[in-house]
Amino acid sequence: MEFVTKVMTPIDFAPGALDKVGEKAAAFGATSVLIVSDEMIIKLGLVDKIIDSLENFGLEYVVFDKVLPDPPSYLVMEAAELAKENDCDCIVGIGGGSSMDVAKMTKLMTVNEGNILEYCDPQKKQLIGPKLICIPTTSGTGSEITGGAMVTDVENDRKLAVSGVGVLSDLALIDPELAMGMPPKLTAATGFDALSHAVEEYMSAFANGMSDVLAEKAIRSSVKYLKVAYEDGKNLEARSEMARASAFAGLAMNYCGLIAGHNLAHPLGAHYHIPHGVACAITLPFILEFIAPVTERKTRELIELFNGDPNVEKEKLGETIRELVIDLVVSVDLPLLHTFENVKEEDFEQLAKDANADLYGFLTPRTISTPDYLELYKKMYLYRR
Ligand SMILES: [Fe+2]
Repeated sequence: MEFVTKVMTPIDFAPGALDKVGEKAAAFGATSVLIVSDEMIIKLGLVDKIIDSLENFGLEYVVFDKVLPDPPSYLVMEAAELAKENDCDCIVGIGGGSSMDVAKMTKLMTVNEGNILEYCDPQKKQLIGPKLICIPTTSGTGSEITGGAMVTDVENDRKLAVSGVGVLSDLALIDPELAMGMPPKLTAATGFDALSHAVEEYMSAFANGMSDVLAEKAIRSSVKYLKVAYEDGKNLEARSEMARASAFAGLAMNYCGLIAGHNLAHPLGAHYHIPHGVACAITLPFILEFIAPVTERKTRELIELFNGDPNVEKEKLGETIRELVIDLVVSVDLPLLHTFENVKEEDFEQLAKDANADLYGFLTPRTISTPDYLELYKKMYLYRR
């Protein structure tokens, strides 16, 4: 299939890369830096390391440490205010997807008028803000590389995407050592986010030779190393493979987007506060089963990537890939949907409508609409192991 290459975020990937942040910000010509992060990252001492590195290059700094999971829009507006008050000409976002997404949207709102929620409209013009360095501490979102960010519209209980040149990072500083402090549960959840990105990219209607190479490598690494990283967090080889899988999946996303597994996952986060990676692990097996009837060749390839038998009968393809993915889900002790006490079947109609209004329906290789989403929610809720 035809594809177009795009200018991507430069990547600096190495154990110890965090120490280069001062040098990199100085190379951008920065004088005053806004560090965007959360309380946990502060406690881990990583922001102190950044401050040391910035001070070594004589750079001023101010810290915004209020980032929350599923970041609400007002946080972005507060961070942008802080950046403007301090004349920040560089932003450093460090943490998981939420911190990096807030940093990316802060870059946007430092130079653009209005409220961040207005920029969920892809037609809205985006001016390019200060330089942005993103430093992931989990291996999952790939947000350090993608041209998108998620924001929560608290009033309407919805997670929305802002995408475009205004939320693109100018440098991804990827240091696999930073993930070594991640607890096993978070390792499993964020790792499944990375794997879900790679798999959904591989199955995307816009998948192409370039995205396939990146996604395939990310799937191989995740299938082999997610459980290793989960069981042995200090294993640098496993951490490096997962960090690279996350980055490669982030790169591929810029070529071909995702499919409706993420449409199904977002309402689970918005309505029930199920962490994003956990929600992806719940929905991925079922979206793959749903599309299997129209993606025979790719599903067989995927079965092989998950170490299954690709020569199963055509009618068994969906069930086979679903079970292989769930094998991996349960091997890292991630929960199934019915185990969440706050999940109620009567909510599913609303969830299905929200999923249908989300981004990735048109990239899904099989036509999908609200009744299909409803059926899928019911199916994953009734599923037992
Ligand atoms: Fe994701």
